[in-house]
Amino acid sequence: MKRIIAPSILAADFGKLAEQANMVKDAGAEYLHIDVMDGRFVQNITLGQVVVKSLRPHTDMVFDVHLMIKEPENYIESFAKAGADIITFHLESTQDVMGCIEKIKACGKKVGLTIKPKTPLEWVLPYADLADMILIMSVEPGFGGQKLIPHCLDKIRKLRELYPEKDIEIDGGVCVENIKEIYEAGTNIIVAGSAVFGAENPAEAVNTFLNA
Ligand code: DX5
Ligand code: ZN
Repeated sequence: MKRIIAPSILAADFGKLAEQANMVKDAGAEYLHIDVMDGRFVQNITLGQVVVKSLRPHTDMVFDVHLMIKEPENYIESFAKAGADIITFHLESTQDVMGCIEKIKACGKKVGLTIKPKTPLEWVLPYADLADMILIMSVEPGFGGQKLIPHCLDKIRKLRELYPEKDIEIDGGVCVENIKEIYEAGTNIIVAGSAVFGAENPAEAVNTFLNA
């Protein structure tokens, strides 16, 4: 499958987001991973629709918006309007999974579903056919710079077996040391925060991940 790199702006310099986005785009990254945290679903707070909207005119990258917020159903339309292309929400964050999926589709955006490391893969399977992408979290959501939890790769292996054509994304703790194993497990979309924006040369890091 085609490999896609999605650098996470969580690790970027927020004072020059547009510049940082285009730097990784020029290096071959197609997606820009945008982590939205509310201080409720996860402990941390990051950014909201206004930041997405401000960034939108500055780049044509695919905006891969990862919602780590409670009751995402209340925010889907506004993130879609702000310029999200893919909207991913946590199955643990809502009582109305179908409603969220329908809202994202009604906005004409791609549906991403995700689960935390401790959530069994079985949670996602009933909805998998409706999703454009499934994101397997490989760290506890909330912070960048953590270590990948190895058993999460088993979920990816299983998922790839079941869905040979589906976009499967991994998020958390991706680095040069584990990228090969991540591809071998069947991942085709790679989120990387600190390993890209924390690298001395982010463009080179994107290249390394693309060609690993
Ligand atoms: C964590 C976020 C990740 C984070 C990954 O909750 O969802 O996208 O930015 O950061 P790294 O690649 O540093 O683990
Ligand atoms: Zn993320």
